[in-house]
Amino acid sequence: MENKKIGSVLVIGAGIAGIQSSLDLANSGYKVYLLEQTPAIGGTMAQLDKTFPTNDCAMCIVSPKLVDCGRHPNIEIITNAELGKVTGEAGNFKVEVKKNPRYVDEDKCTGCGACTAACPVSIALYPVEKIYVKLKDEDLKKVEPILEKYRGQKGNLMPILQKINREYRYLPEDILRYVSDELNVHLADIYNIVTFYNSFNLEPRGKYIINVCIGTACHVKGAPGLIEALENELGIKVGETTKDKNFTLETARCFGCCGLAPVITVNEDVHGKLKREDIPKIVKHYKSLEEKQDA
Ligand code: FES
Repeated sequence: MENKKIGSVLVIGAGIAGIQSSLDLANSGYKVYLLEQTPAIGGTMAQLDKTFPTNDCAMCIVSPKLVDCGRHPNIEIITNAELGKVTGEAGNFKVEVKKNPRYVDEDKCTGCGACTAACPVSIALYPVEKIYVKLKDEDLKKVEPILEKYRGQKGNLMPILQKINREYRYLPEDILRYVSDELNVHLADIYNIVTFYNSFNLEPRGKYIINVCIGTACHVKGAPGLIEALENELGIKVGETTKDKNFTLETARCFGCCGLAPVITVNEDVHGKLKREDIPKIVKHYKSLEEKQDA
């Protein structure tokens, strides 16, 4: 009886490898116990932005697997637990597991996070480094009203960063350091956010963002020629900004108006059915707008 083979498996570690192994085994009909030392499954991959070599979003890959794992009838997840003594032999091991307390009723917990918000105790995970950036008066005039509007509000970091990004057309480093000091948020946490979302820029951008569609329809109808003409006209390459900070040249895939291919946008303006000969006229138009404003 002692040697009877048991059709259950213990997978140790709930990173992406442990999760995938558990799913494969569970789908093959085994009962799987997935043991994880930390309070949550997902491991390092759940903390990554992009993954090598395809540059795919890490969470887009891992989160469906987290859900599958959590819902699979053959998988029992044991988090916040450590492996103890292992006895027995292949096919019939006995394992001791030390489960650490979670201080909540796991059967009732929905993971809503309300307890975190209500908890009167706060512990800094790492010290917030104070750099005390001194901003120029002109920057203070721009940044302080934004901070004032949201100071003390929960979840204020995103709107503050969005407004600063709009104001400067990018997020200058000294401004981010100032925000970090003022809100008492670690600079690393701010960088986590601003490098995750495409709408934030860490490099200065031009007043006019010229975006060339390189989707299939536009490519076939001559987008490469438009890019070449724009590069010649502006004296910059894709991804760069002119020295006067007036123009930034970028590319993107399909603007959803393939009937107008090839298409470029200049800020909110859409220019369609273009030929490369049209480019100098378009650039001239926006340069003249600038000159009028300067006059
Ligand atoms: S491919 Fe250019 S708009 Fe669709």
